[in-house]
Amino acid sequence: MPGLVIVGAQWGDEGKGKVTDLLAERADVVVRFQGGNNAGHTIVRGDEEFKLHLIPSGILHEGTLCAIGNGVVIDPKILTEEIEGLKRRGVPAANLRISANAHMIMPYHVLLDTAGEARLGSSMIGTTKRGIGPCYADKSARLGIRVQDLLDEKILRKKIMAAMEPKRQLLRPHAKDPDLDLHSMTEEYVTYGHRLEHYIADTARLCWDELDAGRSVLFEGAQGALLDLDHGTYPFVTSSNPIAGAACIGAGVGPTDIDDVWGITKAYTTRVGSGPFPSELEDETGERLRENGGEFGTTTGRPRRCGWLDLVALRYAARLNGMTGLVITKLDVLTGIGPIGVAVRYRHPEGATFDQFPYHQSVLHRARAEYEELPGWDEDITGARSLEDLPQAARDYLDYIADFIGVPITIVGVGPGRDQVIWVSGEQEAVLEAA
Ligand code: IMP
Repeated sequence: MPGLVIVGAQWGDEGKGKVTDLLAERADVVVRFQGGNNAGHTIVRGDEEFKLHLIPSGILHEGTLCAIGNGVVIDPKILTEEIEGLKRRGVPAANLRISANAHMIMPYHVLLDTAGEARLGSSMIGTTKRGIGPCYADKSARLGIRVQDLLDEKILRKKIMAAMEPKRQLLRPHAKDPDLDLHSMTEEYVTYGHRLEHYIADTARLCWDELDAGRSVLFEGAQGALLDLDHGTYPFVTSSNPIAGAACIGAGVGPTDIDDVWGITKAYTTRVGSGPFPSELEDETGERLRENGGEFGTTTGRPRRCGWLDLVALRYAARLNGMTGLVITKLDVLTGIGPIGVAVRYRHPEGATFDQFPYHQSVLHRARAEYEELPGWDEDITGARSLEDLPQAARDYLDYIADFIGVPITIVGVGPGRDQVIWVSGEQEAVLEAA
């Protein structure tokens, strides 16, 4: 796997953290390329659970370099807390590298995010309120503060002043908020600078050097294709591009550096925040999926909306990403649920049907999924380690998905533990060999 991209194929929360953790063992570098601490992944190691928001999951592997790429937006308060938290639990962060070009989330971004949502009222996006959108907006407006600015107090102060002034107007009710004081904000960020200084690096060059030496780089995406700023369910999306093409921009490599793209999907669908969700189940089955799957947000604790697997959306995500492999997580959550629905087309209330993901929001917002019903299974599958260990109905379910999407399945998750996975025959060897 010289250059392998891992992306979410749904609305985020597909279990990318666990997959990255599995593959990181074999990678020389793991680099995150977009998003910020709106993401969150839980990694289970023995009886220990690690919740990370910014640091790539690979940090648990001693020999793997972990980079936060230029495309990520970094809240330095959260990042320093994460580093300290890992150190306290005996995980050294010595292999961490932070791009000097990554933009930073400032206190006014968080205030703007909250104020913007309040202003939208019932039309709110349902953001994570971590300041992600306003930070990317400042980046595009060329008012952003970058990690490298932490290293020069004079420049930092000047840039904060220029960026903060226009916000005062927007944040009038908060104008006297101590968080918006230029002096204390500069001081606070200079302190982060001291704590982060020795991790700051040219992470693009790091990727080039590793790739040029024939070593393997894993590009770790956050969120998922349907939250993509350009291709997702706009405006109910995040403010970055979680699709594979963005790995190039957010890590600083070229398209020819990417060899494989694996998309991660749950065996069903979830979404947090507002926006269309054609296969949503607002009934007892949806509730069971939420309970069985522990579907509450890692970052905000919000209950996730749940529904059957949406193959129309998944096929769209596969094409958008140029997927070469499909990872299916949480198959065990479907055990005992009875017959399983898979969304194979959408129907608009006026009667039209759609085999492809509709580009027009008026269609998508009112479309409901139509299903094929596949047999379920009752056997416990959490101990399965090969496809042969699965009941026939579970194997048929996987085959149906792979055929519909036209992408081979590489890994299947059957429980939260690191070892609770099925490597589809040949895939593990292929990854090992390439690494
Ligand atoms: P933001 O990224 O905080 O601006 O939120 C925009 C939308 O993306 C909201 O619907 C969030 O719930 C959603 N979102 C952002 N990050 C994640 C994630 O990591 N998993 C799932 N949804 C996310």
